[in-house]
Amino acid sequence: MTILGPGDIVGLVNSTYAADLFVTVVTEFDIFTRLAQREATTARQLSESLEIDERAADVTLTYLAALGLLERLPDGAVRPTEPAEQYLKAGSSIDLRHYVRTVSTRQGCRQASQVLRTGRPASWEGDGGDWLDRMSENDFADSFSAAMNARGTYLGPALAEVLRDLGRPAAPEIQPTGDDRQEAPAEDPHSPVVHTPPVVHSAHDTTPVDHPPSVGWQAGSPPGVVGDVMVGDGGSGAVRKILDIGGSSGIYACSLVQALPGTSAAVLDLPSVVDFTRESIAARGLADRVDVIAGDMFGDLPHGFDLHLYSNVWHDWDAGSISKLAAASFAALPPGGVLVDHDMHLDDTKSGPLRQAEFSVRMMLMTTGKCYSTPELAAILGPIGFEDIHLRPTTAGYSVVVARKPA
Ligand SMILES: C[S@@+](CC[C@H](N)C(=O)[O-])C[C@H]1O[C@@H](n2cnc3c(N)ncnc32)[C@H](O)[C@@H]1O
Repeated sequence: MTILGPGDIVGLVNSTYAADLFVTVVTEFDIFTRLAQREATTARQLSESLEIDERAADVTLTYLAALGLLERLPDGAVRPTEPAEQYLKAGSSIDLRHYVRTVSTRQGCRQASQVLRTGRPASWEGDGGDWLDRMSENDFADSFSAAMNARGTYLGPALAEVLRDLGRPAAPEIQPTGDDRQEAPAEDPHSPVVHTPPVVHSAHDTTPVDHPPSVGWQAGSPPGVVGDVMVGDGGSGAVRKILDIGGSSGIYACSLVQALPGTSAAVLDLPSVVDFTRESIAARGLADRVDVIAGDMFGDLPHGFDLHLYSNVWHDWDAGSISKLAAASFAALPPGGVLVDHDMHLDDTKSGPLRQAEFSVRMMLMTTGKCYSTPELAAILGPIGFEDIHLRPTTAGYSVVVARKPA
């Protein structure tokens, strides 16, 4: 892979976990020999036959499909493709399992094996707790938040760009004529309005995308059915107050208030994180528009906000926890309020894309979550009452799933 942008560097880091998972399932579980013995296999069947966690089985199948080693069938089951049959199972004429085995004692492979067997997230370092245990330590929380902030520096503007239509429309430009003609005012560096739209890049950071497409998905549709629903500003009005839940440094809240005129925001995060949050917001000169709340997002969420943002949060949790968060948002949002999940999302058939599938492996190994597809999220959000559930790509493999509480 050639590094063309920041997303490629982040993707490279994430791919190291995925490579360890690949080595582990090929060597310790001989996965392709096992899969080749069946017509087709679901994640549940794989979990039963290998005696591994079902979430881990699901993420593994998606990753191997993204690598082109499995074919996803219309019913969601998989079967090995030709390269897997030729090189990675018992009896292959070129049996590369022997070569893969040369790296199978790496620490990362041992960790992957343990997570596959137990379903519990790996410790962050050595024998310590997992990332969430460690977040109660101030030093760890600071360095973790710095990592989130660095990534948000390139993702935040792209996120704000695709949500710009949810804000209050900027005052229409009046074309000066004749004697009315005046000098354009100098740009105010503290103005909340971003005058130069940030460039939004494709998944590989190469091609600028002026108008990212919206991919509609209606709650209640059978998995894989893509509609043409557009949210636009069809609700009760423009967004004014944003709650960035699990918002870390507040980088996304800051990007949004800068892009959406007349908005303000609050960042909700753990008590161990919020000192970093306050400093970051102040360093951006936005302390007057972005507030900070120390708290637990699994408690009651504050009312008075009309857009709830979960950025890189849901991939840390299982479907039951996401359902609780989404239900709390539904209860706290006003009619017409908007819920935004910003993350790497899988494609509708969960066969990739590769960068998202690799990130999902990292999340599966380190947290109780994984990356989700739009249909999986629609299956959670629809029954809660959200509507107009749809995907908007942003940059570097990221996208938002947007949903609205009925007006
Ligand atoms: C993976 S980080 C994402 C941070 C940021 N939203 C981003 O996109 O980079 C998850 C965030 O959720 C926060 N978090 C985890 N559990 C939480 C809880 N129970 N209440 C509030 N925040 C929580 C963490 O402290 C962390 O900042």
